[in-house]
Amino acid sequence: MTKGIIISGGFGTRLRPLTCTIPKPLIPIVNKPVIERQIDLLRSAGVKDITLAVSVMADVLKNYFHDGKDFGVKIQYTSERTPMGTAGAIKLAEDHLKDENFFMLNGDVILNFDFKQMLKSHESYKGMGSIASKIVEDPSRYGVLIVDNESGKINNFLEKNEYHPPGGKYVPMPINAGVYLLEPDIFNYIQPGKKVSIEREIFPKLAEEGNLYNFPISGIWKDIGKPEELLEGNIQLMLDILKDVNNQQKNIIDESLDIDGKALIYPPIAIGENVVIGKNCEIGPNVIIGDNVFIDDNTIIKETLIYNKAYISKDVKIEKGIISDNCLIGNGVELKGNNQNLVILASYVEVSEQVRLIAPSNGSITICHHEVVREDIGTY
Ligand code: GDD
Ligand code: MG
Repeated sequence: MTKGIIISGGFGTRLRPLTCTIPKPLIPIVNKPVIERQIDLLRSAGVKDITLAVSVMADVLKNYFHDGKDFGVKIQYTSERTPMGTAGAIKLAEDHLKDENFFMLNGDVILNFDFKQMLKSHESYKGMGSIASKIVEDPSRYGVLIVDNESGKINNFLEKNEYHPPGGKYVPMPINAGVYLLEPDIFNYIQPGKKVSIEREIFPKLAEEGNLYNFPISGIWKDIGKPEELLEGNIQLMLDILKDVNNQQKNIIDESLDIDGKALIYPPIAIGENVVIGKNCEIGPNVIIGDNVFIDDNTIIKETLIYNKAYISKDVKIEKGIISDNCLIGNGVELKGNNQNLVILASYVEVSEQVRLIAPSNGSITICHHEVVREDIGTY
């Protein structure tokens, strides 16, 4: 049986301060941790045995997934004292993965495609590896695939910064989506006890040998490296769930919602368990709210992520924000981002009454966990 390994040993630096308190693999995407969504996709393809190669805040992850029983799979963990690189990380699980082919996933990508199709494609090509690819407008920050469309072969794999487009101008092309199907022979290519990058050291070699194949994916795909990608990825996945033909709804709302009759909802929005919304509130579009969130009267929220247990008082305005868990927002507060710039509050942030945080046009406002904000930012 095909197994799976998800690697998520990075520090999530670009998502700080959100990742100071929530490990990146547990960052919620439409109210479910990003790697739980990946585990769901693997399980749907019949993968029942999954290794998590995680290091930062590993105990928080183990406390969430335990042995995987509650998630319908068997989960085991590897641990790295220092990051071993993307290939070094799977080498540590060689004994467990050496008997059959296995899926390998970057733990920070949002996607929604049928992994069974990828398995089928891989088995028909009989290569050592298949890489899921997605065509993106700007491939500059990803690994790039040079594909022979007729044979499906990847002729060249160039990790970011290694591909220099003709004339210096990037055009849409297939990039590495961070999902691979690999044969166990790949372990012969990875030296033990060393930091090894699968993208820089192994894939180029396999491509040269003609042993690497392309699996183009359709549907949504997003790397959640940066906060604005996190917001965008959440919105895209919400739309993707809603456009499912079996789904006739305009929103994803838990039945426990307690909403005043005079509040307005502008779709699409997603709401978790035990949320209260007061009168004359206007929520949406593009708002994702977690569990146990209280929103008091006359509050307006647009294009924003709110994690669990936030308390949002009266007359608050939030647009383009990420509000992590347990935040407390006082009466009359205004939080406003613009374009790519957001207002980001990490866990347990308190914003005092009437304070305004307005992102400038050249950067986001980020507030670290447990801070109390008593004065305006960006309103000069
Ligand atoms: N266990 C472990 N150990 N995991 C690691 C290590 C390590 O040493 N290094 C990176 N990872 C994990 C990260 O936690 C993340 O889940 C994944 O590997 C990818 O690392 P990123 O740091 O997010 O890389 P990237 O996004 O810049 O580029 C990678 O992903 C792109 C697609 O999202 C590359 O694989 C690109 O080729 C690809 O296009
Ligand atoms: Mg990434």
